[in-house]
Amino acid sequence: MDKLIIKGGKKLKGDVTVSGSKNASLPIFVATILAPGINQISNVPFLRDINTTIKVLESLGSQVEGNGNIVRIDTTNIISHEATYDLVKTMRASVLVLGPLLARFGKARVSLPGGCAIGARPINLHLKGLQALGAEITLEHGYVEAKCRRLKGARINFDVSTVGGTEHLMMAAATAKGETLLENAAREPEIVDLALYLNRMGAKIEGAGTDTIRIQGVSELSAASYEVMPDRIEAGTFMIAAAMTGGDIRIHNMKLEHLDALAFKMQDAGVEITSRDGVVRIKCPKRVKSVNIKTRPYPGFPTDMQAQFMAMMCVADGASVISENIFENRFMHVSELQRFGADITVEGNTATVKGVKKLSGAPVMATDLRASASLILAGLAAEGPTEVTRIYHLDRGYESIEKKFAALGADIQRVKE
Ligand code: EPU
Repeated sequence: MDKLIIKGGKKLKGDVTVSGSKNASLPIFVATILAPGINQISNVPFLRDINTTIKVLESLGSQVEGNGNIVRIDTTNIISHEATYDLVKTMRASVLVLGPLLARFGKARVSLPGGCAIGARPINLHLKGLQALGAEITLEHGYVEAKCRRLKGARINFDVSTVGGTEHLMMAAATAKGETLLENAAREPEIVDLALYLNRMGAKIEGAGTDTIRIQGVSELSAASYEVMPDRIEAGTFMIAAAMTGGDIRIHNMKLEHLDALAFKMQDAGVEITSRDGVVRIKCPKRVKSVNIKTRPYPGFPTDMQAQFMAMMCVADGASVISENIFENRFMHVSELQRFGADITVEGNTATVKGVKKLSGAPVMATDLRASASLILAGLAAEGPTEVTRIYHLDRGYESIEKKFAALGADIQRVKE
């Protein structure tokens, strides 16, 4: 197993390029199931979750070839309609194959994902929506079994804003008979990216990025080429790394407008952010000021940046209150950040962070993807060496992150345990 060794205290300086978005690539890969043919998806990040998605598609009978950051997916010969427990438990987003399989073949059998480190994460709203589109659904032996004739358009109003649920139903409704209206839909940029890809395939989707998405079902879709959007969470992680080290960096291939909520909070903390010719410059003071955040669905502050922002608040001037409103167990990084000497108290879904002058490097353990990122950030800012173990979590969602940090001047290396 690999681990990271970090010697903190180096100011980050220079240029870094953001990879393609993990959370946009995953549903786009899954959407290829909807039509037979060869799709070419570019700007795909090299990640463990992408490999898992490729395994899922291959297990169904798709042929997948990679060339650099371009992936060709041939869905002509899909013969299986089942996603097994082994694959779904490795990556929850695999459940998204249910809707596309059902839409194209009229049947699907997909393992229920079970719980997750950051919360229970049920898929009840996905299933309720598919039923509203006319799918017959039964749960047996830990699997969802679904069948239908052609799905039929319906009006669906989500009880809570769900990214995966919105994506799932957008895919399923693309070839349903008639019109589907998704109300209280999630508005994340990754949903817009999926809608753009589906429209390339011939779908008629309007309103993605707003809370009402209108889908006119078409009788068939065809394979398409598409370039995935940049990863906004990776970009945000670099912004915070610069801020925690008093750095000055330029970030390429990022869309600042996808990170407004984070950028406003960072400006409140004293960070200078400017954007010119598509390059975002992050110029940071010696020490940032404390700021409060509340995680919310987009365009609110992203839960996927909460752990990293908390790491930054650990070395800020003053006290900060952080509330997590999306997932019920997303504070697992707290006890690891405390090992660096951070002053954090948690009550329910609220953490109070009192900034300390210095963190001190420590051996720590990653517990989930974004928690891992927060530990690296703490290590980059801390005095003395830090060792981060269980970084397989990190490899799910950050492409070559230690190389990118090293190129910005950090002292960080990956070693085999
Ligand atoms: N929810 C339900 N029922 C459902 C679906 C969701 O109650 O049927 C609840 C969840 O339990 C949660 C809330 O709704 O409390 C929001 O969950 P959502 O469905 O929006 O999350 P997701 O689609 O499972 C995606 C990202 C996550 C990101 C969340 C929130 C992907 C593959 N995953 O998850 O990304 O945190 O949206 O923005 O897109 C990560 O990249 O580290 C990550 C966890």
